[in-house]
Amino acid sequence: MNDDEVKRALVQAADAARFAPSIHNTQPWRWVVRGDRLELHGVAERQLREQDPDGRMLLLSCGTALHHARVALDAEGWRHEVERPAGEPLAVVRAAERVPARPEATRHFQMLQVRRTDRRTVTDERVPEDTLRHLVKVTEEAGARLHVLGRDQVLELAVAVGQAQHAEAGDERITAETATWVGGDRAEGTGIPASALPEEVPLTTVAERDFPSRGTLAAGEGHDEAATYAVLYGEGDEAADWLRGGEALSALWLAATEQAVNLLPLSGPVEIPFTRQALRRMLGGVGFPFLPVRLGTLDPAQSAPPKTPRLPAGQVIDVL
Ligand SMILES: Cc1cc2nc3c(=O)[nH]c(=O)nc-3n(C[C@H](O)[C@H](O)[C@H](O)COP(=O)(O)O)c2cc1C
Repeated sequence: MNDDEVKRALVQAADAARFAPSIHNTQPWRWVVRGDRLELHGVAERQLREQDPDGRMLLLSCGTALHHARVALDAEGWRHEVERPAGEPLAVVRAAERVPARPEATRHFQMLQVRRTDRRTVTDERVPEDTLRHLVKVTEEAGARLHVLGRDQVLELAVAVGQAQHAEAGDERITAETATWVGGDRAEGTGIPASALPEEVPLTTVAERDFPSRGTLAAGEGHDEAATYAVLYGEGDEAADWLRGGEALSALWLAATEQAVNLLPLSGPVEIPFTRQALRRMLGGVGFPFLPVRLGTLDPAQSAPPKTPRLPAGQVIDVL
């Protein structure tokens, strides 16, 4: 193993992390390759100042990118260590040695390309119990928890989602900010294109995010009767906890993708303090809610949305 080989591996990992999901596809990360270190930095210019003033969604998003980079290193057999200093950089990855890659690492890496946010309605086929158990385990192994909601709690979640939606729709600064990130063809490489948004917001018990502009995606006729709702949560409310939450979100989402389970994030109620408190009470006060998600199966006959754009590598990776 020589220095150039390590450097190349770190650049490739940062490049693969461009596929990570982020709030409104803001991609609020920047990577610095410095010798044998890969540093992850948050980017204030791509933080949603109005909707996410405390940067919780930014940290979750950077966490998904960090996990994606680690999946890429694993796929090439690079053993590595991660430090999460409290502050900037958010994380430092160091590649240690190269060993033969495990077959599951290659599979996980393939999921980076396959995963996407698909806002079509779910079918009436439930996610099997053993698949849910697997997803709970994957989340725990990645450093967070997944609480699967019972029927009554789904109704409580529906109320919280509705309240958060109402609060955000009534805030002109938030709606103006959202409009700059959502809709159109997004040629600049960030944001959510119209092709990823439903023509009409489906009528469901727990509402999908009602973006201020309509899209071109045929969402389908289904309801969400057979959907499973869950809350990703963790033990702390510090920056490092939210970063870990993002890493676990990526692990969970990739595992769901591998099992043909659709995952849709519903971050609205985490963005508004009083609905975030309501979610916290739903968890019995043990832990801090990071993100509610819908899990379900999709109709493969309906076409999935095309991939959302990404910033070019040169804009998110610096090699020093
Ligand atoms: C922290 C976080 C919160 C998100 N919240 C929502 C949401 O509330 N509603 C939604 O439709 N998509 C949500 N998304 C999905 C993003 O819009 C999506 O990841 C981004 O547009 C990139 O598209 P892709 O996932 O298809 O690659 C969220 C993603 C992340 C990482």
